[in-house]
Amino acid sequence: MAIIAPSILAADFNNLGKDLEMVNQSEADWFHLDIMDGVFVPNISYGMPVVEAMAKLTKKPLDVHLMIVDPDRYLSVFKNLGAEIITVHFEACTHLHRTVWAIKELGVKAGVALNPHTPVSVLEDILVDLDLVLIMSVNPGFGGQKFIENTYQKIKKLKEMASQMNTQIIIEIDGGVGLQNASLLIEAGANALVAGSSVFGSDSPTKTIAELKAI
Ligand code: DX5
Ligand code: ZN
Repeated sequence: MAIIAPSILAADFNNLGKDLEMVNQSEADWFHLDIMDGVFVPNISYGMPVVEAMAKLTKKPLDVHLMIVDPDRYLSVFKNLGAEIITVHFEACTHLHRTVWAIKELGVKAGVALNPHTPVSVLEDILVDLDLVLIMSVNPGFGGQKFIENTYQKIKKLKEMASQMNTQIIIEIDGGVGLQNASLLIEAGANALVAGSSVFGSDSPTKTIAELKAI
């Protein structure tokens, strides 16, 4: 049974409160919040005032995925807004070890995200410090894109690395995830799934979440 994290990027922003309440009432585990700066990725999503408003309604952990350059500037801001997990991109951090420890010192779970072209081997010397690795299964920036099949072997390699190092990590997959590939992802070693359009675009988001949870 994996952690299911609906991505709010795919919610109806005209009825955000309603969609947040749906997630509260569902079997989902976390709220996945995608923060994009228009620099690290070619899109801008939503920022602090929106997260602050959301946090007043959300009753489950906020899993904050920062797709921004120089994330160190905003770690404490997101912690204060209620983040329980903060994930930064490997590709956006020159001093990743410093950034990871800055997150941990805030008392927040630390995650590192890898773009599709970044091999899991780059994490060899930081893996023991991490709570979570987010493997991007699409190029970050947009919801509703096609899942990249190479993801399966990255998950397997990462799982192998973690077991060799005797360290427990959450392996979270983000992009193009839905009922069609969830069981293969879990079989490969994923234990957290982000799902945006497959949840919010379905006839019954609550049922889709329950089905993902039941895998
Ligand atoms: C993409 C984001 C994802 C996105 C996933 O850059 O990191 O979290 O919302 O959306 P779907 O599930 O529609 O691919
Ligand atoms: Zn994301």
